[in-house]
Amino acid sequence: MTEPMTKDRVLIFDTTLRDGEQSPGATMTQEEKIEIAELLDEMGVDIIEAGFPIASEGDFAAVSKIAERTERAVICGLARADFRDIDRCWEAIQNARRPRIHTFIGTSPLHRAIPNLSQDEMADRIHDTVSHARNLCDDVQWSPMDATRTEWDYLKRVCEIAINAGARTINIPDTVGYTAPNESADLIARLLREVSDSSEVTWSTHCHDDLGMATANSLAAVSAGARQIECTINGLGERAGNTALEEVVMALKVRNDLLPFETAVDTTKIMNISRRVSTVSGFPVQMNKAIVGKNAFAHESGIHQDGMLKNAQTFEIMRPADVGLAGTSLPLGKHSGRAALRAKLADLGFDIGDNQLKDIFVRFKDLADRKKEIFDDDIIALMSLVAETTADDRLQIESLEVVCGTGGPAKATLKMRVDNKSRVSTEQGDGPVDATFRAVRAIHPNQAVLQLYQVNAVTEGTDAQATVSVRLEEDGVIATGQSANTDTVVASAQAYVNALNRLLVRRQKFGPGSDVREVSYKELS
Ligand code: KIV
Ligand code: ZN
Repeated sequence: MTEPMTKDRVLIFDTTLRDGEQSPGATMTQEEKIEIAELLDEMGVDIIEAGFPIASEGDFAAVSKIAERTERAVICGLARADFRDIDRCWEAIQNARRPRIHTFIGTSPLHRAIPNLSQDEMADRIHDTVSHARNLCDDVQWSPMDATRTEWDYLKRVCEIAINAGARTINIPDTVGYTAPNESADLIARLLREVSDSSEVTWSTHCHDDLGMATANSLAAVSAGARQIECTINGLGERAGNTALEEVVMALKVRNDLLPFETAVDTTKIMNISRRVSTVSGFPVQMNKAIVGKNAFAHESGIHQDGMLKNAQTFEIMRPADVGLAGTSLPLGKHSGRAALRAKLADLGFDIGDNQLKDIFVRFKDLADRKKEIFDDDIIALMSLVAETTADDRLQIESLEVVCGTGGPAKATLKMRVDNKSRVSTEQGDGPVDATFRAVRAIHPNQAVLQLYQVNAVTEGTDAQATVSVRLEEDGVIATGQSANTDTVVASAQAYVNALNRLLVRRQKFGPGSDVREVSYKELS
């Protein structure tokens, strides 16, 4: 059960591992999910939605492990309005110190049409499934999916049914990011006013960012009486994403005069978790993203820099340290030792064991041979490399040589291990990256379609590392790979192979012949 509410406390419900991970291509491994859950717990998030246990064996295992290990936060699992879903969810979370079942059904006319249920039939289903969940678990949350496009009378009726059946939290999803701040506030205020026994439950808001209003809509809901915000790190989530945790938490902190509410989040942990989520999900944070973007605290123009030097408050409404950004620090170089690297990693929020340090140190020395100064961003990129590749990867690059220039088509010779057998191929292409990708396909033929190929320089200068993101799609299965290197073509090859490795894992999990099916949370059995 969530702790008793004081009037001005807003609960932070993080759904990075469920709604965030549902974002196409944002698959995380079980270890990555556990690591993120631990960081969320340490950070002071109140409720962690750890996954959707019936979706796959992998999801079930990740939720169970998170439930067993988490110290403080409530651990929540998602379930459709279906007894088997709810039972499976309970099985996964029952060992949590504080378990919660979150069950939902689409209540708008469009969503009611999918399972083809009448209003009355759906109302009965809600009553039965919430009661069933309540028989298993004290803490039950219920959501009418697409609430903001549900007829008022029906929304009121189903909320009352769920409260009567024992739900403790009623979450109001703006599933398609359709609402606007004044409407979001009016809806919550009206629910609080007109739903019978509304004061018996915590009202929650869950917004998507399709029109760029998720943060504003969530805060408006809080001003009107909602006391739980559902959100994700970096705003990760389907389509345009969910409400960004860092935005609502910092808005509540910085504008506490307008929004006099508290959260339990330690904001100094924001940057670290943002980086980790970006790395493990393969979704880079846009440069000018509020709070966690690389430029969020950068002051380039002369007027701004001058003002900042005289008084930081001239152009800064929050201090970089408030979100865990260390001040400018000295770069490392090829003479830096293991201790300096460990200290830097700790500074950047990476808590690593001795074995991992050994591995990272080798990569660090290799980079230092190619690059004079190693900046914080280089180290962060290096850490993302470590997370991307494992000894179990079926495809492993051994060497790559590329010839390119004005003289003719580029030529790439690639040596790669496939299931422990070494193979070589030389291919021509329209430029070095095209030739390299053709060589990968010659060694490992596949039908994957390249959906995204993105290159960013990590720092300045011609010896800067490039981070490359590659997103592939094959038969509806999507996977993203990332890599970083001072050689853009090598980074591209590695990112492409990383994405293929992930695709192979996903295909095994969900593809034809697998024993588990990827369950869409929008479909009702
Ligand atoms: O957006 C949505 O409606 C959801 C529900 C499952 C809560 O994520
Ligand atoms: Zn959602």
